[in-house]
This record gives sequence, structure tokens and C-alpha cells, in this order.
Amino acid sequence: MANVIIVGMQWGDEGKGKIVDLLCPAFDGVVRYQGGHNAGHTVKFRDRHFALRLIPSGILRPEMACFMGNGMVIAPDAFLEELDQLAAFGVEVQGRLFVSNRAHVLLPFHAAVDRAREAAGGGNRIGTTARGIGPAYESKASRYGLRTCDLDAPDLEERLAILRRRATMELASLGAATRATAGAPATSATSETPATAEAPAEASATAEASETSEITACAEQCRAWAERLRPHLRDTEQLLNAWIAGGRSLLFEGAQGTLLDIDHGTYPYVTSSNSTAGGACTGTGVPPTRIDGAIGVLKAYTTRVGGGPFPSELGDARGDFLRQRGNEFGTVTGRPRRCGWLDTVVARYAQLLNGIDTVALTKLDVLDDFDEIPVCVAYRLDGRELRELPPDRRCLERAEPVLRVFKGWQRSTAGILEESELPAAARTYIDFIEQELGAAVTLVSTGPRREETLLRDHPTLQRLTSGRLGQVLEQR
Ligand code: GDP
Ligand code: IMO
Ligand code: MG
Repeated sequence: MANVIIVGMQWGDEGKGKIVDLLCPAFDGVVRYQGGHNAGHTVKFRDRHFALRLIPSGILRPEMACFMGNGMVIAPDAFLEELDQLAAFGVEVQGRLFVSNRAHVLLPFHAAVDRAREAAGGGNRIGTTARGIGPAYESKASRYGLRTCDLDAPDLEERLAILRRRATMELASLGAATRATAGAPATSATSETPATAEAPAEASATAEASETSEITACAEQCRAWAERLRPHLRDTEQLLNAWIAGGRSLLFEGAQGTLLDIDHGTYPYVTSSNSTAGGACTGTGVPPTRIDGAIGVLKAYTTRVGGGPFPSELGDARGDFLRQRGNEFGTVTGRPRRCGWLDTVVARYAQLLNGIDTVALTKLDVLDDFDEIPVCVAYRLDGRELRELPPDRRCLERAEPVLRVFKGWQRSTAGILEESELPAAARTYIDFIEQELGAAVTLVSTGPRREETLLRDHPTLQRLTSGRLGQVLEQR
């Protein structure tokens, strides 16, 4: 049985949630391996519509087991809110949603630091989702982070004191809020300063008392979270490897996209985890020798949210058209997404880094009305043509796109399920992508809903779905 990684080939929001949900009938479980509630994965079928942030998209299929791996950073309040939303939709999760007890906990301290850094602005602004993702991974890498198994640990207060102290120091240096514990509304450093100056000894006693009460409140909150999380906590690496040994297949659901990867992305305008395929192993404890392939999700054009270089970006009416037609507004933050043409420098890089076996091409329908569809195939920089992504962000910022222009098809592709019904010009566009990537496009998505997806009966897709393509088609 095949274990397969789904990975975004651009800057996120490629439609990973839709593809994961669609392919579920070929797998027994879905696993998230990195990121946190910065992700927003939309799943639509028939008249139903869900946006998942932390919990794997497979949860909407009642027969699927879902796992949240050790590589994730989990905000318990966001997780519990999502559980409540799912319950309100009638989705039962008991006994099939398992959270790694080694995953790190994202606390309100982390979000406060993220917000303060972004608010401080200047050249360091990344345009994050302000959820605390970077600071949570920093705590992990600095080895003072809290893991889900620590939420009711005997030394919880001590550990929270360290976290609070570090956050407070940074917040103070940024001139921002100093109170950021669970449940406590953040107030600004200046508004906390008493109107009448206290004697130093009194001030220090007040600060100490406030610290103690904040930590006590936060510890209480953590213990309450631990109660609700406990039924889901498992040694997921044991569970996942036992599943594989028992012949069950897993679908690994990537969040963000290749160009947002902390190592390989457009640094520093990236997220703080490994969103490329390698992250699926470190983020779950499933070894590389148990992985059978990767499906790259590629949007037929490009979008990005937040700051950072974007060589094929459109600053004109065509970009606005893509945004409106593609409904390119952030699932998590509602921010308008920046839009541009497909960039095959980016896509080839993603193919290379993830070892993409086959491509799911999404949102082809959004291009339906264009008479001409340019594709960025290289970058022009200082009189040279680059076919590979340069590491230096300043080079990328100056790079001019080298465009190859394709003829538009100017008719609706929405909901096409048969390859023979695709307009010839759309077929040419897809053929070109296949040539550039050296990988077959075996899924073509032409609408947001599960049922609006064309699947090709191709040997690679047959292999990656363990011969269960028939079930995927039946339940599409
Ligand atoms: P993800 O983060 O990669 O899961 O992607 P998002 O869910 O954030 O963004 C993709 C958006 O495009 C969602 O609103 C989807 O419902 C929508 N979508 C996905 N595939 C298609 C498609 O083929 N056509 C259209 N028009 N919309 C799509
Ligand atoms: P999905 O899984 C698009 C972007 C943010 C910002 C950068 C860093 O839905 O594709 P962070 O909050 O992670 O520290 O922000 O990464 N970003 C995303 N962009 N889709 C996402 O997730 C993203 N998750 C983070 O906009 O530029
Ligand atoms: Mg998204």
C-alpha cells in the first residue's frame, strides 16, 4: 500500500485541502506533519464548505483516521475551537483523531511576540499570519518549548516562567504588550506603567506578584487544555509505523508550500518549518524508506500572501481579475492574495526538491477568460537568463520574468471530467507544464468542489493510489 506526500509547489494555497479530501478513498489515514493554524485548507463538496486550519482535511471523511504529527506547533485553543466547529457540523472525531504527544504547544506568548514584531514594522516585517508560528518554532529550537505531553507536567509553572520571561523581554524591547498569558488580554507596556511613580522595591514586588498570578492563570489554562486533549494524545510515531507495518496506507498533508520552506524557500519571507516533502519524515517519525511518492499541487497561476519577492506578480487589472475570479483572499486572515502568472522556475525547483511523481493542477478554470496566458519560464537578471531560482532575495526582487505566451481557450472548463472535453489550448498549456516538470499532470481541478476534478487513468496515479483509483472516482 502506498504512502504518499501531498505538497504545495508554490507559496501555499494551491488547493492542497481539496486534493487531500478527494484522494481519501485511496488511503486509510491522513497525517499533517508541520505548521500550525497558519494553514487554511478549504474543502467543498456538494453544498458543504469547510476551512480547516490544524486538523487534517481527511477528518471530513468519517472512515478516515487523522494524525497530527510531532513536527506541528499546536495552539490548544485553536485546536479545541476547530473540534467544536466540526462537532457543530456533525463530524464525529472520537477514536480517529490522534495528536502527537511530542508536538509543540503554541501559547498566547508566541502570538503576542509575532504580532509585536510585525507591528514594529521596518525592514523586518514578513507579513506573517500573526498566529505565533515563528516564535513557537523558536522556543522548540531553543529547547525551552512546551510539548503536548508537558501540558500538565509537574514543573509546568517553572517552564511557563521561562517562556513568559523570554516573551516579556522581547515585547519590552519592541515597546509592546507585556501581558500575554492564556486568557489575559494583552495591554501595552506604557499603559501598565502606574501614573504615580512607585519606589523601586515596591515596583519590583508588584511586577513579581503580577508575574506569579499570570503564570498561575496560564498553568490552570494549560491543565484544562490537557484534560480535553488527553483522549487524542498518542505516541503517533509508534502508531503510524504500526499502521504501515499492518499494510495500511497514509496520505501526508503538507501545509504552506515549497517556496515558504524555512530552508529552501524565499528566505526570510518564509514560514518556520520544513514544508517540503522531507518534512513529512521528520515531522511524523515515518522513515523515508516507507514513503512511496509525492503528488505536487500546482495552481495554474501563482499567488502569495505576505511580503517577499514574486517575479511573475501582476500589478495590473489582470492580477485583480485573477484575485476576483479565483477568490484569492486568505482562508486564515482574509488578506487579499498577491496574484501573477504561473512561474515554471518555481515549479521546476519544487519538482526537484520534493521529487514530485505527478502533478495535481488546480484552478485551471480561473484562466478560462484570458485570450493570452503568459508563463514565466526564466528570469532575466543583469543581462543573463536564469532557469534556476537564485538564493539571494535581492536578486529575486530585481529579476524580470521571461514570459512565454500561450493562447487562451476562452471557454468554460468548469467541471470538465473527461480529458477529451478539455479545449485544445488548455491541453497545450498542460502539455507544456508536463514537459517543463518532467512529470505527468494526472489530476486537473476546474472548480472548488470535490466533484469538479478530472482524474487520468495513468500508471503513476494508479501506483500512488494503490489501485484504488476506482473508489476515488466513485466517491468524487
Ligand atoms: P490550500 O491551503 O492549499 O488547501 O488552499 P486554500 O484552500 O487556502 O485555497 C484554495 C482556494 O481555491 C479555496 O478557496 C478552494 O475552495 C479553491 N479551489 C480549489 N481548487 C479550485 C479550482 O480548481 N477552481 C476554483 N475556482 N477554485 C478552487
Ligand atoms: P496553506 O497551508 C499561504 C505565509 C504568510 C507569510 C509567511 C510566514 O493554507 O497553504 P507564518 O505565519 O507562517 O509565520 O507566516 O508564510 N503563509 C502562508 N501563505 N498559505 C499558507 O498556508 C500560509 N502559511 C503561512 O502569509 O508570508
Ligand atoms: Mg490555504
